[in-house]
Amino acid sequence: MSEIEKRTVKIFDTTLRDGEQTPGVSFPLEYKIQIARQLDKLGVDIIEAGFPIASKGELEAVKTISKLGLSAQICGLARVVKEDVDACIDCDVDLVHVFVSTSDIQREHTIKKSRKEIIDISVSMIEYVKDHGLQSMFSAMDATRTDINYLKEIFKAVEDSKVDIINVPDTVGIATPTSMHELISELRKTLSVPIDVHCHNDFGLAVANSIVSVEAGANEVQVTINGLGERAGNANLAEVVMILHSLEGIKTSIRTEYLVETSRLIERLSGIKMPPNTPITGENAFSHESGIHTHGVIIKSDTFEPGVMTPEMVGHRRRLVIGKHAGKHAIEKLLRDYGYVVTPEHLNEIVERIKELGDKGKKVTDLDLFTIAEVVIGDVESSKKAIQINEVTVITGNKITPTAVVNAVVHGKKMVESATGVGPVDSALRAVQKLVGDTIRLTDFKIEAITGGSDALAEVFIGVEDSDGNTFTARAARDDIVMASVEALVNAINRMIVLKKMRK
Ligand code: KIV
Ligand code: ZN
Repeated sequence: MSEIEKRTVKIFDTTLRDGEQTPGVSFPLEYKIQIARQLDKLGVDIIEAGFPIASKGELEAVKTISKLGLSAQICGLARVVKEDVDACIDCDVDLVHVFVSTSDIQREHTIKKSRKEIIDISVSMIEYVKDHGLQSMFSAMDATRTDINYLKEIFKAVEDSKVDIINVPDTVGIATPTSMHELISELRKTLSVPIDVHCHNDFGLAVANSIVSVEAGANEVQVTINGLGERAGNANLAEVVMILHSLEGIKTSIRTEYLVETSRLIERLSGIKMPPNTPITGENAFSHESGIHTHGVIIKSDTFEPGVMTPEMVGHRRRLVIGKHAGKHAIEKLLRDYGYVVTPEHLNEIVERIKELGDKGKKVTDLDLFTIAEVVIGDVESSKKAIQINEVTVITGNKITPTAVVNAVVHGKKMVESATGVGPVDSALRAVQKLVGDTIRLTDFKIEAITGGSDALAEVFIGVEDSDGNTFTARAARDDIVMASVEALVNAINRMIVLKKMRK
């Protein structure tokens, strides 16, 4: 095992600080607490909880997170200003992250201080932090655009003041893997204090630059969940960690099985949805559509997956997606998984129809597949006969209990059922459930407006469970929410009836 393979790298998470600087993102206190707990569950070494001097709310949040009793160290951000450091001390953080601009461009146009003045205030702030018995981190903001000799000089000066760790930020994301590797190698030769890196993603290189920094001797990386952060963001935690674990043989404290769960939480709380092709945690990260790939994956998953990283390792799941590239094997497996037994002739026909739809540019969902299968197998007529809705009437108003009357043909017999509910949709669904003798339970219900306006097309997704615990899902889209809901439920029930018949 080589030297690098034995190493452990620390994970410094700044989702709650730089991540919250993502344009449009602001986490209320209860979200911050939830995120801090999740980061702790994930196993990060350090949580940068915020910038306490920035606002009262920020101070309150850092204070509250410090008191949660988490295993991770809690860090607060401070400029090289005594009040900033005092605010961090007031929050009872474990680590104070002191930063100052060191590049000429930022020094001359923003803080307007000489190089010497900057060294002096940095040293005095690190000493101030140490005098209070706290750990200190020093960041030379815009380090990658800072004159290398001056950078070494300021880092040496804070090292002499017993700083615990120095951070090298690529503040505007202009480093390349080559230049970052050179910079960290050079600093590694000069300094004995641990080195941390903070890479921004302006050119999409934040992860690569973090990795080469570790290769060049960095001991810690600053990352965020989903790569949130100022402008194009910071290095994505999941990507950095999995590259270190799976490709570089370097350990971190991260419990990788919580990566997807953590990513989903941050998507929800930040309102920033990740593209499906996001590595590691994206919806498609372990999805296979092409026939060649799915065939290989069914036989042995490593044939078309990295192998050194499995969906289980990161808390994901493998999916075979039905589309025009899908092969017979995947389609047959999916149908089998859902209880459909098809002859080779049926299978050929189903595959043909799926490809036709795909060629027309249609996204083929699993439900489309099942519908096609039912049609091809020839059971569609019986499925239609199970329940057919003739009429739905709903009465609602501010002084009336919403009531629905459903007129239908059930297994060839005319039936009328009525029910009340909390609203028109609820009462209509209850009436439909009565048609099958209340033998099903609603397990899922989602409405999405597809188009805008009060006449928007509503897509309803419904999940039902029968008395044996089998679940069935269906969708319907209409411009009337009540009718879309009724249709989705009827589709789900019909699917249940057909499937039961086929299983017998
Ligand atoms: O990008 C940056 O330079 C920062 C510092 C505060 C470390 O976020
Ligand atoms: Zn930053």
